[in-house]
Amino acid sequence: MRIVLLGAPGAGKGTQSQRLVERLGIPQISTGDLLRSAVARGTELGRQAREAMEGGRLVDDSLVLGMIRERLGDRDARRGFILDGFPRNLAQAHALERLLEQLRQPLDAVVQLEVDYRELVRRISGRRTCADCGRVFNLLTSPPSASALCPKTGAPHRLVQRPDDNEATVAERLRVYDEKTRPLVDFYRARSLLRVIDAQADVDEVTRRLFQALGIRTARRARPAKAARRSPRAAARKVVARKGAARRKAASRRAAPRRKPARAASRTSRAKPRARVPQRPRRKR
Ligand code: AP5
Repeated sequence: MRIVLLGAPGAGKGTQSQRLVERLGIPQISTGDLLRSAVARGTELGRQAREAMEGGRLVDDSLVLGMIRERLGDRDARRGFILDGFPRNLAQAHALERLLEQLRQPLDAVVQLEVDYRELVRRISGRRTCADCGRVFNLLTSPPSASALCPKTGAPHRLVQRPDDNEATVAERLRVYDEKTRPLVDFYRARSLLRVIDAQADVDEVTRRLFQALGIRTARRARPAKAARRSPRAAARKVVARKGAARRKAASRRAAPRRKPARAASRTSRAKPRARVPQRPRRKR
């Protein structure tokens, strides 16, 4: 599947992308993660992107498009991908459309995750990331458990806050989202690709809604027996009745007096039961 996840900063695009990766086995392509990695490695791209990111503005389209073109050409993206944080404006959306036409890989769906402003700010203020493995937590909704260890270091996770998760930058990111990214909702609706889900619920529930919107079946449960599938109540009654009968049989076996083993009866005697001989009344002495 080729999917775009749209939504404001903090809507849960990264979190839900991870669930899709686990379920579908296709890569998550997050422009935010690619840019942060370039900044951390001190590459030329990172150097050019850094200032815009720290200010909560969008990085130049030409830089982002170059990065996306390269990433979509990678082998693992041929089976499908989840775009997280891209496209971010109409120019990027048009460029993506052209690129996917060239690659003959049209999008299957675009999902908009809707969350209200207060909840977005709450989620972003609680977000912490492990500096070593990159796993995302939330101090308010999903803190790491006391026993959780980082798979990279084997020690407890080292939690850090993203530099652009401060109050001033978050306000600017949300403003930029409304101005530049929200218009993509109409862009994709006009192409009949848009699905909107209410993403203001716990993570598992949002995943359920997302999978439903994409027509992805959730993990299979064990199939009940045939009779239970037809009528679960009737099947349950049948089990109770069967158990009751077994109990009664066992009780009557316990209560019955022990009989001597009967002598083998001849066929004729079985066929014709012997008539009972009336006993003579005892004579009184
Ligand atoms: P980017 O990294 O894309 O950030 P963003 O779009 O602002 O999105 P976030 O990563 O903040 O939020 P998210 O929706 O992924 O939420 P998450 O799952 O983490 O971009 C950063 C910067 O890079 C941009 O500002 C820009 O400068 C630049 N950039 C990136 N792409 C660009 C592009 N295409 N063009 C130009 N510039 C670009 O969840 C947030 C928190 O909430 C977490 O703590 C999580 O645990 C928690 N949470 C998630 N779901 C739930 C839930 N259902 N209930 C409770 N808590 C939840």
